[in-house]
Amino acid sequence: MPRKIIIDTDPGVDDSMAIFFALNSPELEVIGLTTIYGNVHTSLATTNALRLLEIAARTDIPVAQGANDPLAIPYGGPVPFVHGADGQGDANLPPPSTCAVDQSAAVFIIEQIMRQPGEVTLVPIGPLTNIALALRLEPRIAQRVREVVLMGGNALGPGNATPAAEANIHNDPEAADVVFGAPWQVTMVGLDVTHTVHMTSADLEAYARSSKATARHIVHILPKYRQYFEDTYGCDGIFVHDSSAIAYAIDPTLFTVQRWPVRVETSGLFSRGKTWPLVTQTDHRLPEWEGRPLVNVPTRVDGRRVVDLILSRI
Ligand code: BDR
Ligand code: CA
Repeated sequence: MPRKIIIDTDPGVDDSMAIFFALNSPELEVIGLTTIYGNVHTSLATTNALRLLEIAARTDIPVAQGANDPLAIPYGGPVPFVHGADGQGDANLPPPSTCAVDQSAAVFIIEQIMRQPGEVTLVPIGPLTNIALALRLEPRIAQRVREVVLMGGNALGPGNATPAAEANIHNDPEAADVVFGAPWQVTMVGLDVTHTVHMTSADLEAYARSSKATARHIVHILPKYRQYFEDTYGCDGIFVHDSSAIAYAIDPTLFTVQRWPVRVETSGLFSRGKTWPLVTQTDHRLPEWEGRPLVNVPTRVDGRRVVDLILSRI
């Protein structure tokens, strides 16, 4: 039986790659996309999610639109220098011919989880606002969900949005702290591993060799995103963020996982959005971490196998 997943997403070039990867994987059944601001505003994220499903000929999958702003402060704005002004590498696609469902992302998530207890895995690959709102509206989803596998955070290394913080967590640290503190199993697929999953330009050529509409779309939207990696990291190709969370949902044995309680910095002047795992045993009690659930934190990954898995699903 394929694992049912809801992808909460801000598409986004790497989100697009992750969504197609999931749709092409028999181990997974995508039962919905929920949208969130991050790489673009939420309304554009919804437009892009609908377009992506059209390109994949999967308009049977519902899209539910999510929150416009983080829990505590207004949205900081899109990142056109990474994903293009349209979130699709400035590809300027035609508008979608389908619409989002008449339900908020949080309510959609709640309904799906409560209707199918133990079956639904949440895969957030954007800021965690919708997930925190769903928990706030219906805390029992924590007992009914199968698990949460998210892309975000940085346990042991630097951030990418700021020196301290990873972009998805940095966009809504308050929501992330709620999600890491709820009584459910969360896996935080963060920069600790995604910065070692490297798709080279030779790997990326596999998309150009495919005649599938989804692969052609990726070829179309990639150039700007690749340029960002070259300019920022001197990287030939890209680091694989969002698709690494999908890879974990398919095959967790690709990753080496530590189990730590995680807090998120919500007030630091320079470190807002930093994820702090409690990695050391200490004689002192640290009340901020006490009673918090253990989060699965992948710290090592077989990056080559992850890339090969993704390429095998183009
Ligand atoms: C995350 O931030 C976004 O730009 C990407 O889509 C990914 O979800 C990486 O830090
Ligand atoms: Ca994303």
